[in-house]
Amino acid sequence: MMSIRSVVAGCGHYLPAKTLTNNDLSKIVDTNDEWISTRTGIRARHIVETETTSDLAANAAKMALANAKISAEDLDLVVLATITPDYSTPATALVVAEKVGVKSGVPAFDISAACSGFVYALTLADNMIKLGQVKNALVIGAETLSKVTDWTDRGTCVLFGDGAGAVVLQAKETNDTIGILSTKIFADCKHTTELRTSGGTSTTQSPGFIIMEGKEVFKYAVNALAEGANKAIELANLTINDIDWLIPHQANIRIIDGTAQRMGVDKSKVIVNIENVGNTSAASIPLALSQNIEQGKIQKGQTIVITAMGAGFTWGGAAIKI
Ligand code: COA
Repeated sequence: MMSIRSVVAGCGHYLPAKTLTNNDLSKIVDTNDEWISTRTGIRARHIVETETTSDLAANAAKMALANAKISAEDLDLVVLATITPDYSTPATALVVAEKVGVKSGVPAFDISAACSGFVYALTLADNMIKLGQVKNALVIGAETLSKVTDWTDRGTCVLFGDGAGAVVLQAKETNDTIGILSTKIFADCKHTTELRTSGGTSTTQSPGFIIMEGKEVFKYAVNALAEGANKAIELANLTINDIDWLIPHQANIRIIDGTAQRMGVDKSKVIVNIENVGNTSAASIPLALSQNIEQGKIQKGQTIVITAMGAGFTWGGAAIKI
């Protein structure tokens, strides 16, 4: 039966030029490359110097638009997932819309769901497309986590990085099972303290810095990531064997490996880029997706499952036929 589907028309990504290696970090806090790489899988991360979240997002968006072969004028929705917006208000999505040349009148707004932000944003855009409200949606995940990192806390500062990824979703009326096959998002309000910023605009006028109970987050993450992915697979009427690639949120290589193991997915099918970018929160999945499409690893016609987990706790997954 003909139905409206959200098709991935193009992807893009952007990383700031400056990198911070584990050896660089060992000059700032009491740590070393061996500890960081064995506990997290991270060896380097990109860090902004003067760029803002909207700068990173706009660069990723321009690449996604070019790959989708459409102009910013064709867009009728901009959704940006971030926990490091340029301002509390207006939404960074509007700043990005202005930078890339989106028409006046087009809705643009931010989503705050931490590392699950991109899955949340994709879910929303997909549903607006399926309702017939939107034809071309720009969905972005972008972060400058270095601005909310406590550079004196070795337990957190080694984990995070800056970056952006973007996807253009396009409405397509078709009989084929393509594009976004399923989405599912979750949250658990009993865990608002384990991973958060130390301040808040309503209390301190500053977001403060990321504070985290690492072990608690770790324990929750494997279950949540596996649940997000498995639910997406089930809702798309697929089995694990139908999946070409699993793209888990890049938080920690041990969490990624644990998730794949729990799901029964072979390591060779798991997309990993954490070594060079660290945890880029909402940017993590679209960044990995775009890089791997560009490198030719993820190819047209393949089925991928994305899954994320983050502060809140929030989590969720989606199945996508590229
Ligand atoms: N360098 C060297 N030593 C460090 C260190 C660092 N960067 N950070 C912590 N340590 C030390 C600790 O102080 C502790 O020392 P002690 O035993 O003398 O007290 C020791 O290493 C073990 O610390 P611990 O916190 O138990 O390590 P861990 O194996 O739990 O790993 C994390 C810590 C943060 C890597 C891990 O808990 C984690 O990845 N959690 C999830 C984080 C995450 O992904 N968050 C985002 C989710 S979206």
